Amino acid sequence: MLRVAVIGAGRIGKVHAAAVAAHPQAQLVAVCDPMGTAAEDLAAVHGARVYKDADALFADPEVDAVIIGSPTPLHAPQVLAATRAGKAVLVEKPVAKDVEEARALDAELATFEHPPVMVGFQRRYDPSIRRAKDLIEDGSIGDLEQVVIVARDPAPPPAEYVAVCGGIFKDMTIHDLDEARFFLGEIVEVSAFGQKVLPELADVDDFDAAVVMLRGADGAVATVMNNRRCVTGYDQRLEVHGSAGSAVMDNLRPTALSVNTAEASGSQQPYLDFFLTRYADAYSNELTAFIDAINTGAPVSPTVSDGVAALVLAQAAEESARSGRTVRLDA
Ligand SMILES: NC(=O)c1ccc[n+]([C@@H]2O[C@H](COP(=O)([O-])OP(=O)(O)OC[C@H]3O[C@@H](n4cnc5c(N)ncnc54)[C@H](O)[C@@H]3O)[C@@H](O)[C@H]2O)c1
Repeated sequence: MLRVAVIGAGRIGKVHAAAVAAHPQAQLVAVCDPMGTAAEDLAAVHGARVYKDADALFADPEVDAVIIGSPTPLHAPQVLAATRAGKAVLVEKPVAKDVEEARALDAELATFEHPPVMVGFQRRYDPSIRRAKDLIEDGSIGDLEQVVIVARDPAPPPAEYVAVCGGIFKDMTIHDLDEARFFLGEIVEVSAFGQKVLPELADVDDFDAAVVMLRGADGAVATVMNNRRCVTGYDQRLEVHGSAGSAVMDNLRPTALSVNTAEASGSQQPYLDFFLTRYADAYSNELTAFIDAINTGAPVSPTVSDGVAALVLAQAAEESARSGRTVRLDA
């Protein structure tokens, strides 16, 4: 039984705590959060110990692995402290607050022996996205030519969050950028448009919607469409198009029922409401992959280097959107 602690008892920390508690090979032994009663409240749900200080948690010999879901600026220092203490780490995206810090973390981790460090791009473990990748790899849809990723949130986070999140590309698009890399491999060119469509975020110096185009080294191209507000719900779609066919992922609903009446035909329930529900399987599969890597020595995916690469793309997208120019990464 892997003894796991969750650091950061906020939105994503609760998702990970529930996934660990439900996993047959893992046990949630501790929760760490210095703010208010967040740690106490989450620990009480799962019968775990409480830590207010991450360094005290890292010194606990009865913790094998930590899942870091604290605010982004804490990720890199906590990954280093945890690995130095001999803990395996699953760290949320983005792996660090910027490219420089991410590269420094990757370089530092290469200087000592440590247990696996995995980055939480959970979409790689979503069953539909995984199958699309398999279809590309086994040749079923021929040579990959184009990828379209649509990812829209139902409602924007508060303006205070948006102001400190590092910008839409590092905070939100980063999932799509990793997904594009998952399909395309190395990306050599980035072109982005930023939009400001939300009055409630008008005073924040950040885009609240964006379209990003990415060209892979092999010539395939991906388009990412993001919006922080989508009145139809959490809109998560994908199309991969190749020389011998294509694969299309529509939004998931609570049921597959389609209702027809005199007023409307083909009416379905709303999309699964947000990342907690839409990617529930992905978080659980991600945890299984993390545990397998610890138990068997299998390579982790995504790695810290993947986290660095996604941040490089996010930074290039920001530069392109602000300058109006395409950014080449292979120049
Ligand atoms: N993979 C995903 O789908 C996904 C989804 C949401 C958030 N995230 C990422 O997870 C991270 C957290 O996001 P969130 O939405 O859960 O934020 P949140 O604000 O809901 O939760 C963060 C928690 O960390 C706690 N915290 C603050 N300082 C701490 C410290 N020193 N040690 C431990 N905990 C501390 C806060 O009190 C808070 O409870 C961000 O980096 C975000 O990008 C990933």
